[in-house]
Amino acid sequence: MTELLTIKEASNWASKYLGKNVTISNISYLIQYGRIKKIGHNGTTQVLKEELIKYYESLNGYREISWRNKLGEDLNWALSFDQYKEAETTKHVHRLHPYKGKFIPQLVEYFLDDHTDNFKTEVYFKKKDIVLDPFSGSGTTMVQASELGMHSIGIDISEFNTMISNCKVTNYNLVDVQTEINRITKKLKIFLTDSHTLEFEEKLLQKLNEYNNRYFPVPDYKYQLRQGKINEKEYGEMKEREFFFVFQKLVKDYNIKLKQDKSDTFLDKWYSQNIREEIQFVYNEIQQIQNPDTEKIISIILSRTIRSCRATTHADLATLVEPITSTYYCAKHGKICKPLFSILKWWETYSKDTVNRLLKFSKIRTNTIQICLTGDSRTIDIIKEINKINPSFAEIAQNQKIKGIFSSPPYVGLIDYHEQHAYAYDLFDFKRKDEFEIGPLYKGKGMEARESYVQGISDVLKNCKKFLIDDYDIFLVANDKNNLYPTIAKKSGMQIINQYKRPVLNRTEKDKGAYSEIIFHLKSK
Ligand SMILES: C[S@@+](CC[C@H](N)C(=O)[O-])C[C@H]1O[C@@H](n2cnc3c(N)ncnc32)[C@H](O)[C@@H]1O
Repeated sequence: MTELLTIKEASNWASKYLGKNVTISNISYLIQYGRIKKIGHNGTTQVLKEELIKYYESLNGYREISWRNKLGEDLNWALSFDQYKEAETTKHVHRLHPYKGKFIPQLVEYFLDDHTDNFKTEVYFKKKDIVLDPFSGSGTTMVQASELGMHSIGIDISEFNTMISNCKVTNYNLVDVQTEINRITKKLKIFLTDSHTLEFEEKLLQKLNEYNNRYFPVPDYKYQLRQGKINEKEYGEMKEREFFFVFQKLVKDYNIKLKQDKSDTFLDKWYSQNIREEIQFVYNEIQQIQNPDTEKIISIILSRTIRSCRATTHADLATLVEPITSTYYCAKHGKICKPLFSILKWWETYSKDTVNRLLKFSKIRTNTIQICLTGDSRTIDIIKEINKINPSFAEIAQNQKIKGIFSSPPYVGLIDYHEQHAYAYDLFDFKRKDEFEIGPLYKGKGMEARESYVQGISDVLKNCKKFLIDDYDIFLVANDKNNLYPTIAKKSGMQIINQYKRPVLNRTEKDKGAYSEIIFHLKSK
């Protein structure tokens, strides 16, 4: 017989079972987020003890308890969004282009939508409100505002980030987008046939397969490595040298030019000569597109493509150590690998993926206005800039005023936001404004950097305040290790009225430890 417990009984029972305090609200959260079933009985809510045991024995249950021990009892597990799969946290247009430092759409939804729970006890935004994100990044807030029937304004200092953001929320003529993709792909294939690149790659792959099967057999090679029977460094280097002769001969036979003559810009340095030519070829074709929206989204496809085609080894994809233009021993895959020699594969993959994502979003977007501006949020005149793009929306924003902010500001010394898309600035010839970034990596984390950060973020808040209603709500997501936000709030004439402590679960392999960030809720003083 399974035992039924009221919420109060469940909290007592779980506290004993786990040997730590489990509150009534912890149990309510489990019910509200579908971890355990709610059983209504004579007007009271009950749960099954068996289900509680199952939950606490599961991975998430275990994580919840152990993380609370490490990060504190006030950790709000509802904000971990651990029930969502990766496909949902990167749904539709959220994965149109890589961007380091995004927040997940479910977090934005949680604060913008009209639900309440034990933690969020009020609704802050409603349909037709205007939401502002002064650090728009890749436009997550704007996309979610559109899903929820709200207008939104984004601002970012980086012109490329603004382009990504606007591309996500544009309402496209998808037939035109597909037609142009087909036209360019067809031409690229003809271009590649003429340059013999595809033939070269095919031949190289064939030789590589033969070689790898012989000297790096699966799974024997890795097994022997693990047994310590092979010195990986020596063996890898020897085989790399040996195969290099085969590679060189093919390069000569097919007349493939590897390195570019100059290495002044990112595009010169990080792309082999033939990839660079393909990039230029597609870029020139994009310039022929008549419809400006189509032109922009296809430019984003090209940018995403070239990001995946940088001349780097598999191991250095994230960090870019030295450009590589020949075959190499790859410790990650335990065999000889090759860099890319053509953009075609990624161009085709991303073209298809982009159209699918746009199609999905087109079915759920609402008839609202989203605009991302390029500018410095400390000084920008929002209404004036909106007026240049959409005068009637500027009038609405002027009369109705902005309801509040949902944003994740940069943090001190973590990321260089321009540099992460260096290839795109070269490709589109956008002007970089690195020196206007607040808290960039290149300025470090020292005292001076922290002080200028505090000043920078409070200047943004003071500037934005002019465009907000009097009773605004501001939500800022930050992992405030240095406890700077109380000072920022004070300097901006605001008060922190609540803090939501959120566990961050989806970290990269290397960094799996317990980690949390805070969502600060600020209001006027
Ligand atoms: C943490 S990211 C925002 C990420 C965003 N929430 C998303 O989901 O994609 C911070 C952004 O602030 C921008 N930024 C930095 N300094 C700025 C400034 N002075 N004015 C406007 N934007 C700035 C950076 O370019 C970066 O894109």
